[in-house]
Amino acid sequence: MSKIVVAIDGPAASGKSTAAKELAALLGYTYLDTGAMYRAITFLAQRSSFADDESKVIKLTQNLDLSLRFENGVTRVFANGEEVTDFIRTPEVSNKVSEISRIAEVRIELVRLQRNLAKKGSIVAEGRDITTVVFPNADVKIYMTASVETRVERRYKEFIEKGVDVTMDEVSKLVRKRDQIDSGREVSPLMKAEDAVELDTTCLTVEQELNKIVELIKSVEQNSRPK
Ligand code: CDP
Repeated sequence: MSKIVVAIDGPAASGKSTAAKELAALLGYTYLDTGAMYRAITFLAQRSSFADDESKVIKLTQNLDLSLRFENGVTRVFANGEEVTDFIRTPEVSNKVSEISRIAEVRIELVRLQRNLAKKGSIVAEGRDITTVVFPNADVKIYMTASVETRVERRYKEFIEKGVDVTMDEVSKLVRKRDQIDSGREVSPLMKAEDAVELDTTCLTVEQELNKIVELIKSVEQNSRPK
C-alpha cells in the first residue's frame, strides 16, 4: 500500500484534533498536530519574556530542536529535550499563539519540520495551512467547520475538565479573536482549499464525523490501487 497523506484544516475546536487522533489510531497512521508546534514556540517565548520581540522569536525557532511523540492519545511535545506538553494549552498560550503564528520565518521552519515528519509513512496532519501550504497534494483534504457557538462550548468544556478557571465569555472572546487573526493574516491564512471537502461537525457525533472521513480515505485508497 502506498503512503497516504490526510490533511485537515479548520478553525479552533472544529473537531480536527479528535478526528485526526482517532483516525491515526484506527488506520495506524502517524498523527501530526501542527498546532502543538506553534504552541510550543509561544510557550517558550512567553516563559523567556520575549513573545513580543519578533527577531528573538525567530531566532528561538531556528535554533530549536522540536519533537513530537504521540502516546496514549496525547501529543507529547519536547523542546531541546525538555517536555513542555503540559504548558502549551493554557489560556495564556492560546491567547498569544495566533500572533506568533503570523511570523513568516517561524512558519518556514515549522513547515519544513512538518514535511520531514511526513516522509516516513502515512500520516494524518491537522492545522490551519495543511491542505493549502504544507501538503497541497495530500490524498484526502478536509476543511472542518462548526458553528462558532458550538466551538466555544466545546473549548469551554475542555478548559473546565482540565480545571482551568475561565468563563464562557472569556472563551468566546478567545476563540473569536483567534479565528479572526488566523483567517486574516497575510502568510498562509486559514482558508478552504478549492479541492478540500468541507465537513460541518456542528450536528455530528465524533463517530459520524469519523465515518465520513474513513469513507473518503477508502475511496482514495481504492482509486490508488493498481487496476
Ligand atoms: O486546537 P486548536 O484548533 O484550538 O488550535 P491548534 O490547532 O492547537 O493551533 C493553535 C494555533 O496555532 C492556531 O490558532 C494558529 O494560530 C496556529 N496554527 C497555524 O498557524 N498553523 C497551523 N498549521 C497550526 C496552528
